[in-house]
Amino acid sequence: MKIAVYPGSFDPVTLGHLDIIVRASKLFDKLIVGVLNNNIKSPLFLVEERVNMLSEVTKGLPNVEVQSFSGLLVDFAKNNNANAVVRGLRAITDFEYELQMAQTNRILSEQVDTIFLTTNIEYSYLSSSTVKEVAMFGGDISKFLPKEVVPKVLEKYNHKK
Ligand code: PNS
Repeated sequence: MKIAVYPGSFDPVTLGHLDIIVRASKLFDKLIVGVLNNNIKSPLFLVEERVNMLSEVTKGLPNVEVQSFSGLLVDFAKNNNANAVVRGLRAITDFEYELQMAQTNRILSEQVDTIFLTTNIEYSYLSSSTVKEVAMFGGDISKFLPKEVVPKVLEKYNHKK
């Protein structure tokens, strides 16, 4: 059984992430979306909220599972018997960081290989940070996020006002 992990912060999940999830789920028997529980960054959403949003938007994909993780990605992959990590590449600017992570992970564990999917051109400009900035200043975020996620982001910024 071919199992892959798709890790990220997903703060929040965007249409770009969802596109990668749908495409990667067709390439593997099982895809585990790993939501980083990172205390260093200060995310907009709690890890449980991010997991719940991802579970909601992937509920139609039977071979996709959502879990949170902390610690090393390679350990999370190994604990789930996954030997591939999927990452989306939007543009050349992503490449250096992604290459560094992939090489580091490869040295940490030879069992885990990183597979890059090129982001759909429609979403190549999209990032969770940009979406949060647009939302913070009252812009329309409906073209960037799964429809279930839009009200959750708006709610956060309304509460912050
Ligand atoms: O969505 P992001 O923030 O670009 O995802 C980054 C992520 C979660 C893939 C990366 O930070 C990660 O794997 N963190 C876990 C810690 C780890 O394994 N670090 C060593 C590899 S650089």
